[in-house]
Amino acid sequence: MNTGSLPGFRDFYPEDLALRSHIFSVWRDVARRYGFVEYDGPPLEALELYTRKSGDEIVSQLYRFTDQGGREVALRPEMTPSFARMVAARAGGLPKPIRWFSIPQLFRYERPQKGRLREHFQLNLDIVGESGELADVEVVAAAVDILRAFGLDAEDFVARVSDRQLVSGVLDSLGVSPAAVPAAFAVLDKVGRESEEWILEHLSGAGIDSDTGRRLLELGSCDLADLKRRVADHEEGAMSAARLERFFAHVDALGLADYVEFDAGLVRGLAYYTGLVFEVWDRRGKSRAICGGGRYDDLLAFVGGPDLPALGFGMGDVVLAGLLRERDLVPSGEAPVDDYVVCVSPEQRDAALSIVRALRERGRRVTFDYATRSLGRQFKAADQSGAERALVVGPDEMEQGTVRVRDMATGEERSLTLAGLIAE
Ligand code: HAM
Repeated sequence: MNTGSLPGFRDFYPEDLALRSHIFSVWRDVARRYGFVEYDGPPLEALELYTRKSGDEIVSQLYRFTDQGGREVALRPEMTPSFARMVAARAGGLPKPIRWFSIPQLFRYERPQKGRLREHFQLNLDIVGESGELADVEVVAAAVDILRAFGLDAEDFVARVSDRQLVSGVLDSLGVSPAAVPAAFAVLDKVGRESEEWILEHLSGAGIDSDTGRRLLELGSCDLADLKRRVADHEEGAMSAARLERFFAHVDALGLADYVEFDAGLVRGLAYYTGLVFEVWDRRGKSRAICGGGRYDDLLAFVGGPDLPALGFGMGDVVLAGLLRERDLVPSGEAPVDDYVVCVSPEQRDAALSIVRALRERGRRVTFDYATRSLGRQFKAADQSGAERALVVGPDEMEQGTVRVRDMATGEERSLTLAGLIAE
């Protein structure tokens, strides 16, 4: 029997879980600082929730099966469709804007490699009911502040921002038909991950000739002013360029200019994005985006809800944990125990137990030797446990109603009455 974990799935040993808990706690702290509240949904959803709007790539990676009731179901590969469904069902009664966050575990059948597994946890932070660019700024600023809260700074990461409406305007100015735009986005999302030939060949499959394809490959080096001129006659493109200018002015005003850059080469792979798109990248590594998101103003109506604008991002724990390890930003784990109670001989066991209980009831983390081995062994175990104090109970102490308290760091000992120990 092969009892190893499946490829791309992780065992979380205590030290791994300590890092995961640290990541979750920073995510929750900063999300709450921005006024977001936490929600969750089911890990298993109807297959259809993904097949219709997420895009071919993610659909090809689904863990899907027919359940015993004959339903076509899938493990959630992302949270946005569940979020849209949940909000759509209650949107009428919820005060706007809706600011929710969640930390789901997600499942995608990808080829396991550095930064990419078959399960990961992902912070999802989304706003519903705001169409203005201040909501765009808020979401990108939250992503930046989260990474800063881990101790990362502008030399470590950068948020690259673009807008699909602007890029659509550019495609239009190059003669690409609106019908070919979604397929072009899906191919352009692979720039940097696939070869130039691959990109040109697939663009040509979407009806885009190689000259136009080459010009699209240069998008990443165009600045906003340049593209604004190119889309001047395209209504949505021009509006989007002006909106991005206001977006970057707000980013400046927040003092985050070093963290946020314009990058028209970025379009994102998921099919539902309608406007702003962004990804946060490790500036030095090539692994993959730490975080990605954007606007999906049509998705709520698509899943049967009211027509409300929405936006947000997902930040995965795998790339982030790798980055924190690389930059030495993993906090050292705290010892699991405060006090270790040592019995000189088995006669003091019951007295020791009552001390253990009294201290635990007051919130101390306490343990002791279940076998009452020799004193030397018990002190060694106390040392290994990381306890700050060893509390020794022997015949003399019992007679005097005291406990001997050894400071494990200095070795100093003092005597305390039971009442004094409890009070301390
Ligand atoms: P996504 O770009 O597919 O977006 O994923 C967001 C982040 O999750 C990635 O940047 C990466 O850090 C992490 N991630 C994704 N797949 C894997 C994987 N196989 N292994 C490890 N980490 C992974 C979405 O999922 C959108 N639903 C995000 C969103 C929320 N957009 C709007 N709201």
